[in-house]
Amino acid sequence: MTLLVAGGAGFIGSAYVRHRLAAHPGDRVRVLDKLTYAGRRENLEGLDPERVELVVGDIADPGAVAEAIEGCEAVVNFAAESHVDRSIHSPGEFIRTDVFGTYVLLDAARAAGVRHLQVSTDEVYGSLESGSASEDSPLRPSSPYSASKAGGDLIVGAFAHTYGADALVVRASNNYGPRQHPEKLIPLCILNALAGDPLPVYGDGMQVRNWLYVEDCAAAIDVVLERGEAGQVYNVGGPDELPNIEVVRRILELCGRDASLIEHVADRPGHDRRYSLRSERLLELGWRPEVRFGEGIERTVAWYRENEDWWRPIRSGEYREYYERQYGRALS
Ligand code: NAD
Ligand code: DAU
Repeated sequence: MTLLVAGGAGFIGSAYVRHRLAAHPGDRVRVLDKLTYAGRRENLEGLDPERVELVVGDIADPGAVAEAIEGCEAVVNFAAESHVDRSIHSPGEFIRTDVFGTYVLLDAARAAGVRHLQVSTDEVYGSLESGSASEDSPLRPSSPYSASKAGGDLIVGAFAHTYGADALVVRASNNYGPRQHPEKLIPLCILNALAGDPLPVYGDGMQVRNWLYVEDCAAAIDVVLERGEAGQVYNVGGPDELPNIEVVRRILELCGRDASLIEHVADRPGHDRRYSLRSERLLELGWRPEVRFGEGIERTVAWYRENEDWWRPIRSGEYREYYERQYGRALS
C-alpha cells in the first residue's frame, strides 16, 4: 500500500511515518509537506529512500494535492499550523491551512475514492473543569488554533455524512517526545534548562494537560486507519494528567537544574485550564498507551541531550526572533 502522509515532515507526522514503515514492511509513504518553520527534511533522515518520498507542497493547493495523491490508497492528514501562541498573533494562516487546506485534501481523497484520516486535537472540546471529554461531548474551541481544527473536523464529518466519504477523525491529547519543535512547552523547557536560560511558566502553572508519548500516538493513529469506522471520531488520550509546573520541575531535575530557573510570566490570553479525554472507543479497537510520563520524559530529555545537531539550527534561526517577540527576552 502507498500512503499519502500530509505534514509528515513535522513532529507527530514523522513519528507516524517511522511507525508505519516499521509496522507494515511492504508499504511505501509519500509525504506532502510545505516545510514551514515546523517541517524539516531532517525529521525523515535515516528512512529508506526506496520507501519514503518527500513532495514539497501545500495542502491548500488543489493542483499540488491532485498530483501527490495519485497512486495512493489512503491519506493521513497531519498538516496544520499547530502552535496556540502563534495562532493568537496570526490566526489567518491557521484558518487557511487547518480549515481550507483540510477541505482541499479531503475533496481530493473523496474524488480518488480513498480513506482520509484527519488528525485533530483534544483542544476542540475546550477547557474542562472536571470530568473527561468523550467523542460526543460538545465542541467548545477557544483559541484561533482550536477553532480552526474544529472547523476541519466538522468538514470531515460533513463529507462522510453527505457524500458517504470514507473519512474519519482522531483527536489526540498533548504529545511529547523526540523531534518536537522547541516552541512547545516540553522541548522549550529542556533546551532552556540545558542552556541555563529561565523557563517561562504561564500564569500560576496549574494548567493541566493529558500527556501522550508520540510513539503511542503514532500507534493509535495506525489502529484507527486500519480498523476505524468511516464517519467516526476516536479520542486518543494519554495515560497521565499533570499540571504544567510539575512537568517543568521534572525537567529541571532531569537536566540537573534547580527551581530558581522557573520564571512565572504573563498568562497566554484565553488560556485553557484543563484538557482531559476518554478513549474507550479506541481502547475497544485494541490500542493501549505503553509509555508512562516518568519514562517518556526521561527518554525525551535524553534524546534532546544527544541530538544537538537536530535542534541547534532551530535555536539559532527564526526561532530566536520568535522567542524575543513572544517572551520579551533573548535566548542565551
Ligand atoms: P508540527 O507543527 O510539528 O507539524 C506540522 C507539519 O505540517 C509541518 O511539517 C509543516 O511543515 C506542515 N504544514 C503546515 N502547513 C502546511 C500546509 N499548508 N501544507 C502542507 N504541509 C503543511 O505539528 P505536530 O505537533 O506534529 O501536529 C501534527 C498534527 O497533529 C496537527 O494537525 C495538530 O493539530 C495535531 N495534534 C498535535 C498535538 C500535539 O501535541 N503536538 C496533539 C493533538 C493533535
Ligand atoms: O492538547 C493538544 C495540543 O497540545 C495540540 O493540539 C497542539 O498542537 C499542541 O501545540 C499542544 O497545545 P498546548 O497549548 O497545550 O501546548 P504548549 O506546549 O504550547 O503548552 C502546553 C502548556 O504549557 C499550556 O498550558 C501552555 C503552557 N506553556 C507553554 C509555553 C510554550 C507555558 O506555561 N509556557 C510556555 O512557554
